[in-house]
Amino acid sequence: MTSIVKAPVLEVRNLVKHFDLRRSWFQQGTQKVRAVDGISFDIMAGKTLALVGESGCGKSTTAKLILKLLQLDGGEIYLNGELVSEATPEFRRKIQMVFQDPYASLTPHFKVKSILREPLVVHDICPPQERQNHIQDVLAAVGLSSDIASRYPHELSGGQRQRVGIARAISVNPTFIVCDEPVSALDVSIRAQIINLLLDLQENRNLAYLFISHDLDLVAHVSDTVAVMYLGKIVEKAPTGDFFAGPKHPYSKALLASSLVPHPGNRKQFVPLVGEVASAANLPSGCRFRTRCPLAIDKCAVIEPTLRSVGNGHLAACHRVDEIEP
Ligand SMILES: Nc1ncnc2c1ncn2[C@@H]1O[C@H](COP(=O)(O)OP(=O)(O)OP(=O)(O)O)[C@@H](O)[C@H]1O
Ligand code: SF4
Ligand SMILES: [Mg+2]
Repeated sequence: MTSIVKAPVLEVRNLVKHFDLRRSWFQQGTQKVRAVDGISFDIMAGKTLALVGESGCGKSTTAKLILKLLQLDGGEIYLNGELVSEATPEFRRKIQMVFQDPYASLTPHFKVKSILREPLVVHDICPPQERQNHIQDVLAAVGLSSDIASRYPHELSGGQRQRVGIARAISVNPTFIVCDEPVSALDVSIRAQIINLLLDLQENRNLAYLFISHDLDLVAHVSDTVAVMYLGKIVEKAPTGDFFAGPKHPYSKALLASSLVPHPGNRKQFVPLVGEVASAANLPSGCRFRTRCPLAIDKCAVIEPTLRSVGNGHLAACHRVDEIEP
């Protein structure tokens, strides 16, 4: 019997984005900010890849490249196995986004029904006479009552606004959703409800998610795969269970040591992060983490480590990975 191998919903290969940074007035020319510096990953239908790392490591830039809101400087994006060379209307429909700040992402002078009708018109989702029913259905799917349709965003709570943002994303039947810090702007008391909603929708609609977060405890709960970014590179990628049971890269270990919730992989305390992230416009030679790494040796200043397998689908980019205790 032949088995059908499914293509990932999303594949990114060697994505690169370097921003030009103007030097101060007395210096010549421009500097490059290497925001995203050659990263690759796949996400299958119904699965979540979490992208984690400190502020400025390139998470949102990666999201914008995938959404085609920024021009690539290098690399390729494949959606359902097909190379994406331009953002066609069908591409714009299939890839949706849930924003960090639901208030900023909803047009303030439009009622919810107009906010939800607009993408249906743009993407010609259903005949005009069926749009009202479709809007009621998506409101129900995100746990909102139908009377919400007649309200303005400022008449809603933060949680309700984020539900409207999610309703807008799912209303056009996407296959893939980028969630960039989807609950970090919300009150702690309603974060779990929104996360559970995203998980239910994923299960019911077989959605693939790229989930961007600073919050490792949340990532442990929602993701299937974790990718750790440091200064534009993925330094570790692993199935979520493996990652939290035993992160391999010194940076990941330090990140986990800063987490409030105990994880098995943090039972042998690693030193929490010290020092500032180096500048993405002036990267250290060799390993970009070496200026903060307690295990750095001479080789780390000369040769940049590449991602390599440490078993079980677990990849890490560190010269000393074999010496690091689980
Ligand atoms: N339009 C831009 N022009 C120049 N530099 C930019 C631009 N957008 C982002 N950067 C730089 O690229 C790097 C990555 O930024 P990005 O917003 O992707 O980080 P992030 O990981 O999402 O951070 P945060 O967790 O704070 O949201 C940073 O050094 C940032 O200053
Ligand atoms: S390659 Fe060297 S500097 Fe980089 S994480 Fe590994 S030990 Fe630390
Ligand atoms: Mg960001």
